[in-house]
Amino acid sequence: MLSNRLKSIAGLVQNKDKVMDIGCDHALLGICLVKNNILNNIVVSDINQKALDNAIKNIKKYKLQDKIDARLGNGISVIDKNINTIIISGLGTNTIIKILSHPNLKQIKKLIIQSNNDHYLLRKYLVLKEYYITHESIVYDKGHYYINIVFEKGKRKYTFKELMYGPFLIYANKDYFEFLLKKKRALLENIPKYKITTIIKHKKEEIFLKRLTK
Ligand SMILES: C[S@@+](CC[C@H](N)C(=O)[O-])C[C@H]1O[C@@H](n2cnc3c(N)ncnc32)[C@H](O)[C@@H]1O
Repeated sequence: MLSNRLKSIAGLVQNKDKVMDIGCDHALLGICLVKNNILNNIVVSDINQKALDNAIKNIKKYKLQDKIDARLGNGISVIDKNINTIIISGLGTNTIIKILSHPNLKQIKKLIIQSNNDHYLLRKYLVLKEYYITHESIVYDKGHYYINIVFEKGKRKYTFKELMYGPFLIYANKDYFEFLLKKKRALLENIPKYKITTIIKHKKEEIFLKRLTK
């Protein structure tokens, strides 16, 4: 059974997208997309041979070898010319940015990203690369919140707060902001008292988050 986290990503893929799932690990997302006829075929990749072997084992189990092309390699360096959409999930923003810092990014029209952290940096990086945000959603799975962001080619300006909290999310989910507020308060309690500038910065964010929970 596919987790809620991965199901939520599958819902963001459209039939017309030519997709590569980077860092596919088990390939369960690719299998779900093809089995449910969301896509006719997909390329899945992983940098790690063991992960790829696991992917290939699962693909064979579902007899989808002719529809799922599993390949070993680093990020978008092993992409085909016809791919216009990439999915990256379960990785941190620094690794994601390393993956995206490659000339092949120019052929990508749509990115579906579920980063583990630093969504501010992710949004900022891709907006600088001339992508804009067309969708954001939060999914709750096994005690964790995950953020899905879809970027598409195009220029748009965002405020600092939109980049920080998400231009869609900022107006959306009070539960999520309650959760962030709790995390912020826990963080504030652990900052040493002499770090005044750091405390002021986080206090300001705490006030802003409190407003978003109302
Ligand atoms: C935590 S798993 C996430 C698997 C799956 N995407 C998910 O969301 O469940 C991260 C996978 O990304 C792979 N990975 C890390 N860096 C990569 C890179 N530069 N290119 C391709 N795969 C990478 C790892 O080997 C690992 O299998």
